[in-house]
Amino acid sequence: MQPAWLGSAVLIEVLLEARRRGFLGPGPVEDHLRHSLGFVRAGTQGGHSMVVDLGSGGGIPGLILALAWPESRVMLLDASERRTSFLSDALDQLGLAGPRVKVVRERAESAGRQARWRSTADLVVARAFGPPAAVAECAAPLLMTGGRLIVSEPPEGGHARWPQAGMEALGLAGSSPELHEGRWYRVLEQKQLCPDRFPRRSGVPMKRLLF
Ligand SMILES: C[S@@+](CC[C@H](N)C(=O)[O-])C[C@H]1O[C@@H](n2cnc3c(N)ncnc32)[C@H](O)[C@@H]1O
Repeated sequence: MQPAWLGSAVLIEVLLEARRRGFLGPGPVEDHLRHSLGFVRAGTQGGHSMVVDLGSGGGIPGLILALAWPESRVMLLDASERRTSFLSDALDQLGLAGPRVKVVRERAESAGRQARWRSTADLVVARAFGPPAAVAECAAPLLMTGGRLIVSEPPEGGHARWPQAGMEALGLAGSSPELHEGRWYRVLEQKQLCPDRFPRRSGVPMKRLLF
């Protein structure tokens, strides 16, 4: 059964506005909602101490996770001023504004080096943030030991995208991909804290891919 807020006119209007501003990709808004629901299923029951949506853009999947998991703290992290100001307005419209759900305008590489955020998340999610190596290098520093990284995979995604040696260098370990809502999701676990040398300087994780 789908939760009632999924069909909320306000939520649909927020996502349509994100699309109008170029913050959300093509395809029906309902597909983006379903894509987000896959993260909800992969992230199990919620109750997370801190969920970070890496490169939240128009709020997919972070806004949906904040609605789905009213007990969880959520951070919508994005480097873009236009996107973060849109996200702040979206929180107001959705009744999510408050200390539980925060919008942070910061580069992920910088957030991962700051003591207030480093190793604090028990879940990091990423959709369309970048290649696996950049996602992993930006996510791992934010994760506590035992925390998880959930990434939605392209339809052709396979094991080769997440080589074990590359994961291990960041303290991560992979698992089999999971199928939810018709899409594949990769769930990785932070087995030990990410080494201090990561993330590298802003821009480097994307330009000089670790694996
Ligand atoms: C392709 S969009 C994806 C947005 C959203 N997750 C989605 O799937 O619709 C990538 C987003 O990541 C943000 N971004 C890119 N590099 C970043 C970085 N190093 N730190 C923080 N945000 C970044 C961009 O501003 C953009 O909003």
